[in-house]
Amino acid sequence: MSPVLSVNYVSGTTQKATPGHHTPGVFRIQRPKRFPNRSFDTILSVIEPPRANNHSMRLKDCYNINDFRTLAKQKLPSPIFHYIDGGADDEVTLNRNTASFNDYDLIPNVLTGIEAVDLSTQVLGQKLAMPLIFAPTALQRLFHYQGERATAKVAEKFGTLYGISTIGTCSIEKMGSYTQGPKLFQIYVHKDEQLNHDLIDRCKAANFDALALTVDTIVAGNRERDRVTGMATPPKLNIKSALSFATHPQWTLNYLFREKFDLPNVSPYIKDGSNVKSSIIDYINNQLSPCISWDDAAAMIGQWGKPFAIKGIMSVEDAKKAVEIGASAIMISNHGGRQLDGSRAPFDHLQSIANAVGGEIEIILDSGIRRGTHVLKALALGATACSGGRLYLYALAGAGQAGMERVMTLMRDEIERDMMLMGCHSISNLNPSLLARRP
Ligand SMILES: Cc1cc2nc3c(=O)[nH]c(=O)nc-3n(C[C@H](O)[C@H](O)[C@H](O)COP(=O)(O)O)c2cc1C
Repeated sequence: MSPVLSVNYVSGTTQKATPGHHTPGVFRIQRPKRFPNRSFDTILSVIEPPRANNHSMRLKDCYNINDFRTLAKQKLPSPIFHYIDGGADDEVTLNRNTASFNDYDLIPNVLTGIEAVDLSTQVLGQKLAMPLIFAPTALQRLFHYQGERATAKVAEKFGTLYGISTIGTCSIEKMGSYTQGPKLFQIYVHKDEQLNHDLIDRCKAANFDALALTVDTIVAGNRERDRVTGMATPPKLNIKSALSFATHPQWTLNYLFREKFDLPNVSPYIKDGSNVKSSIIDYINNQLSPCISWDDAAAMIGQWGKPFAIKGIMSVEDAKKAVEIGASAIMISNHGGRQLDGSRAPFDHLQSIANAVGGEIEIILDSGIRRGTHVLKALALGATACSGGRLYLYALAGAGQAGMERVMTLMRDEIERDMMLMGCHSISNLNPSLLARRP
């Protein structure tokens, strides 16, 4: 008999199940022998979007990031959902990013007389009301018609930093006038040097506060879910995707009849991805420069002249080089497990990096954050702040600005409550003595 596999679409996990046993939200399938395990799981989850326990998730029922993930899955055509949700290769790094936080336990102090908690912190020259910032993410107009404008408004409302991607769907200029909150521009270095140069000048003119150079995407990670779904920008209609678009009429109508999809920061220079359909993988491989160096990064810091972060640092050696060339911050990140699968989880390596460069450069811990306690653990081990992508993208996709406001309220409440339970008045109280690694 073929092995029986149960795929839990709610948690996203896969495990062997006892024949005959059936739990809601879990589909039992017979795995044909000819498929290698991993590819079959991927194909199944892509072509057969489930309904969680046969009832619809609603915004008011969302209490954690996993709930928002379920909501997003309901709302989005499958190529779009899997573009957000997926990682590279076997998604080992994607999963480890979050799991790594469970290898440490918090050790609270009691009777510390807390009346109120101060979550404020200073990042990239900005005083923020909370230590969780929005990591830059591409293509937000595809996830919800409100796109980057909603993200920027929510960041402003919660007093945190907003990062817009080079391949965002809102222009640097529009974003500059749209929000008064602190804003960062994430730069992908393209082969077109004029484009790189102009992007920085446009950010200066639009009064951006900080720049983040992403260094972990010189070629595209192998995101197999995107290969299976044929994910492209603008979205591609083919036999595989047509059914998914047809069964998500709300998304499809919003996409067709609201603001036209564009990548306005790059489309005056590059037609791929805006006017000419391109897979994300092809865009990255054809347009981004694979040969950027530390000298290029140093030159950019000179041209920019304001707070500058390097996003995608994972080694102690590179963290030291970032200090040497005068970067203001490093974002310890593996791009949410979307690039080099099998690479170390940022939280697993945080302490080594903090021991080497803490106090000399700001450290933003990125990738895998799903809970308030994850933020506390990272800050205790030496991070200045944390950043997250999917945690707000699921909410954006699920319910636009209202969804993001709810998710940020939940996250802020979690961080605040957890700080009180830890006996900490302010971020500066968090330190390594409040944490122990499990044997
Ligand atoms: C859908 C999606 C698009 C992303 N686009 C970009 C991007 O354009 N530039 C960038 O530097 N990082 C991008 N990232 C990576 C995020 O900035 C961040 O590193 C990652 O989401 C962190 O992992 P998390 O989602 O587990 O929080 C993207 C991530 C996702 C999920």
